[in-house]
Amino acid sequence: MIKIHNLHKSFDEKVVLRGVDLDVFDGERLVIIGRSGCGKSVLLKHILNLMQPDKGYILVDNIAIRKVGQKDLFFLRKQFGFLFQGAALFDSMSVAENVALPLVEHTDLSPAEIERKVAEKLELVGLPGTQDLRPAELSGGMKKRIGLARAIVMDPKYVLYDEPTTGLDPIMAASIDKLIIDLSNQLKLTSIVVTHDMQSVEKVATRVVMLHVGKIIFNGDVQALHQSDNAVVNQFVSGSIEGPIQPKPVKY
Ligand SMILES: Nc1ncnc2c1ncn2[C@@H]1O[C@H](COP(=O)(O)OP(=O)(O)OP(=O)(O)O)[C@@H](O)[C@H]1O
Ligand SMILES: [Mg+2]
Repeated sequence: MIKIHNLHKSFDEKVVLRGVDLDVFDGERLVIIGRSGCGKSVLLKHILNLMQPDKGYILVDNIAIRKVGQKDLFFLRKQFGFLFQGAALFDSMSVAENVALPLVEHTDLSPAEIERKVAEKLELVGLPGTQDLRPAELSGGMKKRIGLARAIVMDPKYVLYDEPTTGLDPIMAASIDKLIIDLSNQLKLTSIVVTHDMQSVEKVATRVVMLHVGKIIFNGDVQALHQSDNAVVNQFVSGSIEGPIQPKPVKY
């Protein structure tokens, strides 16, 4: 389980997180929603220890990630898979090399063993036999699948997805949503999904939280999301330009 307690983060004068409290339970698919720029990616980066908070802490399976030494840090990192916003594949590398990257960097598995694991993960994401393709030869949806194969190649316990369906057509987006659900069931993963896509929220979420002006303003299931009497939540869910949120960027 992941426990986020009173997380604060500012960049110079700009306050992004102002006291985020959030528990993530084993086996759930937690979806984080919120406006562009509200700090969703920043929150994910804190969970991955790629950013340090100004105040507050995060426990992963009761270990405080801020305080761990190199050895424990590696142990923690291995527990996490991450699908970056935009997939972030290396164009100069083949699909197989992209997927194998975490194994090459963090394990001493033999080339044959790496090859076997890459094939296994490509099969799981529905793209067997694509090892020798280059990212330039792939559609957006295929790139996301390859990014997902890379995210699970170390057999993590937690997988974090940053806007996995952005930029995909609705059918492709639905197939990525299905893949997220299937993988999480098959591999017994705990998933944290950041998205703007309300269709994804409906399908994927076992629980939803909404981040707004640096805090969690909603925490509940999809049904409760639709029944919320919070005007900010309602406006986001309906995608309306009428309401407390102004369409222009908010100054936090
Ligand atoms: N390394 C950084 N240095 C300075 N400011 C940053 C940094 N990273 C993020 N920010 C700022 O923090 C705020 C939150 O950014 P973040 O990327 O988390 O937004 P987001 O909710 O993921 O938005 P989107 O939905 O558009 O991806 C933004 O105003 C951004 O400019
Ligand atoms: Mg983001």
